[in-house]
Amino acid sequence: MKKTFGKLPDGREAGLYIITCGALEAHITDFGATLVRLFVPNQAGERVDVVLGYDDANGYLNSTAYFGATVGRNANRVKDGKFTLNGNTVRLPQNDGANNLHSGPDSYAFRLWECKRQEENLVQFVLHSPDGDQGFPGNADVSVTYAFTSTDTLEITYDAISDKDTVFNLTNHTYFNMAGHDKPELAMGQTLCMPARFFTIADAESIPTGEKRDVSGTPMDFRTPKAVGRDIGADYEALKLQGGYDHNFEVFCNPCAILTDPVSGRSVAVSTDCPGMQMYSGNFLTGEKGKDGVAYTYRGGVALETQYYPDCVNKSEWPQPIYKAGQRYHSVTSFTFK
Ligand code: GLA
Repeated sequence: MKKTFGKLPDGREAGLYIITCGALEAHITDFGATLVRLFVPNQAGERVDVVLGYDDANGYLNSTAYFGATVGRNANRVKDGKFTLNGNTVRLPQNDGANNLHSGPDSYAFRLWECKRQEENLVQFVLHSPDGDQGFPGNADVSVTYAFTSTDTLEITYDAISDKDTVFNLTNHTYFNMAGHDKPELAMGQTLCMPARFFTIADAESIPTGEKRDVSGTPMDFRTPKAVGRDIGADYEALKLQGGYDHNFEVFCNPCAILTDPVSGRSVAVSTDCPGMQMYSGNFLTGEKGKDGVAYTYRGGVALETQYYPDCVNKSEWPQPIYKAGQRYHSVTSFTFK
């Protein structure tokens, strides 16, 4: 089913696509190939929308929160907005101080994608990203597919190919609140379990220094489940520098994260083929007015962004998101609900 999702300033109309499977229901817009609503039941069968978002496309256009968006061609930060590929300097827009964040102001998150395929449980969007787009080399064809693959799982599949060697590192930037998006005050009380043994240390601009830090004995250790907010105020430099959790953790095994609302028992488990996951506790949220008039206050949601490590294009010792001309990029992240 397709509905209108508002008119963009240039006159184009954004659409909203609804997919279902069993009791799960997702609303996804072609604007940014963005997950807008996700209804998940509890044991009593009561469905709650567990993702932060806006009522129409213009809400997303005017926000830098990246709620539910498909971020690309490269997710997260690139130091000084530049890196070297095949001996050439690639320059990206500097939209986060001197650095590039989420590929700049023209991120795929702000594009109108084309709906290629829709079925009851599935919707696929495609985007053509020309040579030089955002500074990246190569004409690229990119696709994102949202599919309920069973009555408890939403799978997001990324595919892309380019005619020149380039970067593909897409993520989905959904902020979860398993109590319901309209209860921001409960987000930090949710239990997080992450098997990650290390995270990457970053500087004050959130650029990794190259150091992998063992989580043992630090507030970054979620191998034993604990509330996201339990240690967030700890006297620990990495937390102070990033203003809370906003760090890349290794994906050691799957699920790489399980976030649970202790009251309802509703949970999401994340599985991925990506090497890393940015766990971000909504430290930049300032009460922006979202869906149904809800104000998304400070730390009102938790983003679990599967991706290559931030600034990896400048760190050759880390897994590289470089795909050769004609080589297919294919990546899958799934969210399983209980
Ligand atoms: C990512 C970054 C954060 C922040 C959000 C968007 O999660 O790591 O620092 O920029 O995106 O608000």
